[in-house]
Amino acid sequence: MKIQPLRIGDLVANLPIIQGGMGVGVSLSRLASAVSNEGGIGIISTAQIGYQEKDFENYPVKANIRALTNHIKKAKENVKNGIIGINIMVALTNYEEYVRTAIKAGIDLIISGAGLPTRLPELVKNTKVKIAPIVSSLKAAKTILKVWDRKYNKAADMVVIEGPKAGGHLGFSLDELNNNTVSLEKILKDVLIEVKKYEEKYQKHIPVVVAGGIYSGDDIAHYLSLGASGVQIATRFIATHECDADDRFKQAYLDCEKEDIELVKSPVGMPGRAINNKLVETIKVENIKVRKCFDCLKIDHCDRVTIPYCITDKLIAAVKGDVENGLLFCGDNAYRMKKLVSVKELMNEFIAGILAY
Ligand SMILES: Cc1cc2nc3c(=O)[nH]c(=O)nc-3n(C[C@H](O)[C@H](O)[C@H](O)COP(=O)(O)O)c2cc1C
Repeated sequence: MKIQPLRIGDLVANLPIIQGGMGVGVSLSRLASAVSNEGGIGIISTAQIGYQEKDFENYPVKANIRALTNHIKKAKENVKNGIIGINIMVALTNYEEYVRTAIKAGIDLIISGAGLPTRLPELVKNTKVKIAPIVSSLKAAKTILKVWDRKYNKAADMVVIEGPKAGGHLGFSLDELNNNTVSLEKILKDVLIEVKKYEEKYQKHIPVVVAGGIYSGDDIAHYLSLGASGVQIATRFIATHECDADDRFKQAYLDCEKEDIELVKSPVGMPGRAINNKLVETIKVENIKVRKCFDCLKIDHCDRVTIPYCITDKLIAAVKGDVENGLLFCGDNAYRMKKLVSVKELMNEFIAGILAY
């Protein structure tokens, strides 16, 4: 298959590949700029991005804002004409402040999920920053597109669909995930029809990008042939030299087997997918006492009293290399990765697979 660039308004990526945002600290400026320099779109995760700052424990918001600014500036400096975006979860307590910070620092694109980013158009008003909601169903796509149209007279610049095989938090019930009742192909088909209405109304192309379990160039080509304009891939970028996490974190993915990958409960209230370890086994039988609350999630996304563990604490432990007590989010296909490669090698593998399709 011939490779078409991914166009998001006036932004053009030579390859239709977005590297999915991975928090905490797994996709920062190093990974994002490497992907962007290879022709894809690099995404910095905003979730607790300041975890390495000295004052993070006492002033997490201040540390996050400083680190977010620095990572965006660094990534933009490292890329030649490449596109850099952020991933930001609607569930974050200081959502608007982080969005404003990213805009000020020169971000090109904002991808936002873990809730519907209903007010995002207001925050990017009078800027060139492109916005894309993450949805996991036709219903969610309909809702967000309708709200943006009615309230702001605005169409999305892109729509990301995250399917049931993705890593991180999943927008499906445990029942749907265990019984395989939803397919990314079907959601894509439905969302493409919905998006068309807004393309006609606003006279603009709205790329639809799919995510979740996409492993090879062949997989990418498959979704492109179904009408997607691009793909978002996260897990595969963990096994790269440029991934911003500790080497022990990367090794845990290379070592994992199919049966190690499980659905886990998360304080956010949505199921997640992760590699089995001591943490996953522990939370099956007991809650882990919260050492300190970072107030990172809005109260309706994290009930401070009943949560099984603190998500910030466990994701930070993971990225720093504590692979037994940390939470190792992963996509369904993580066990297939057996070798650490460079981003260039990985992108070349994708390109070869698409061309051979
Ligand atoms: C380690 C890890 C961390 C993630 N963190 C986030 C996050 O902070 N916000 C978010 O919206 N998605 C997050 N995701 C989801 C990815 O951005 C992506 O959409 C998804 O994992 C795609 O599936 P794949 O990993 O099978 O390619 C994360 C995924 C992984 C594997």
